[in-house]
Amino acid sequence: MKLLSIIGARPQFIKASALSKEIKFFNSQKDIKIKDIIIHTGQHFDKKMSKDVFKQLQIPKPTYNLGIQSLSHGAMTGKMIEEIENKVLKIKPDHIITYGDTNSTLAAAIAASKLNAPLSHIESGLRSFNREMPEEINRIITDHVSDFLFCPSERSIKNLKNEGITKNVFLTGDIMYDVFLNNLKKAKKINLPKKINLSNTDFIFVTIHRPVNTDNLMNLRSILRSLDILSKSYQIVFSIHPRTLKQITKHGFTNLIENLICMKPLTYLETMSLLLECRLVITDSGGLQKEAYYAKRNCLTIRDETEWPETNVENRNILSKPFKEEILSNAQKSLSNKRKSFPRIYGNGNCSSKVLKILIKNKSIN
Ligand code: UD1
Repeated sequence: MKLLSIIGARPQFIKASALSKEIKFFNSQKDIKIKDIIIHTGQHFDKKMSKDVFKQLQIPKPTYNLGIQSLSHGAMTGKMIEEIENKVLKIKPDHIITYGDTNSTLAAAIAASKLNAPLSHIESGLRSFNREMPEEINRIITDHVSDFLFCPSERSIKNLKNEGITKNVFLTGDIMYDVFLNNLKKAKKINLPKKINLSNTDFIFVTIHRPVNTDNLMNLRSILRSLDILSKSYQIVFSIHPRTLKQITKHGFTNLIENLICMKPLTYLETMSLLLECRLVITDSGGLQKEAYYAKRNCLTIRDETEWPETNVENRNILSKPFKEEILSNAQKSLSNKRKSFPRIYGNGNCSSKVLKILIKNKSIN
């Protein structure tokens, strides 16, 4: 049986690692073997965001790397569709698997649907209800052309139902919870806070990469000003996405990050290691909101909405507009939130095993 995962951005490598691990385990137990084939679209290419993630999470080397990157959304997606189509015709997979909501997800979905090849979407049914986000469009289209839809929560199943999608919809939990549990011990061992000489664990961990925050001058400035103010009371570790760094440099905002501990993009384990020790997470990432929750850390999300609303339980994950006063007052609210309970919201960490069972049961006859 041939399973083809099509991935291209860092969060997708992370998600795919859980399925690869499950396939390895299956192959070690059974006579039938599953081929774990990977196409890397090339969307993320920095060593830290790509090669190092593969190595660290023991993801098999991609059979193909399409090297498509740094283009406008349309050009990037179009080129990917064409190249993926070529490769799928060669590989003839039993299932094509796509993850999340990036341009690579959309390209995989369109290429598969044009070839009538069986398509699975992991992390299906999420909605932010903000159609200005490219990710929302990517999710909606992908869900509507998928044959198997693997949902992290009851709410995501309901979202699909509201759009008329009810066939082959499965509640599997969140695959990133699998990855979190798979790597918890290793992340603890890394102890990045100690390596970078943080004087104590009273630090705030920050990532910002969404165009709405980085490419809008006023938003970027007020986020950076808030961080600068917070840095007078807390150490701030800022893991900077390449686009964010470009914008900070271009607009001459480097003085606003002088008092922060700035780091290049981090590997998965490094990120986790900071998460497990920090006092608060400030981010606009979808994945990090959940990871903060799994690590039992409060989170401040600089966005108007979230596709992971369950994380908002008891103000665990507070949404904030990118305005200085609002960020600072919400940060104070989060920092003083001492509640300790983080009930399970996205399954038991066995998403990949559920997915694999369903895919095996529904193997197509080519
Ligand atoms: C993409 C996803 C986003 C996801 C994020 C995770 C889309 C529409 N967006 O956003 O949903 O949350 O990945 O990180 O697919 N760049 C580099 N090196 C890299 C990667 C990017 O320099 O390794 C630069 C690119 O050249 C480009 C910019 O960063 O100028 C944006 O990269 P892109 O892949 O288009 O989108 P992300 O912002 O990373």
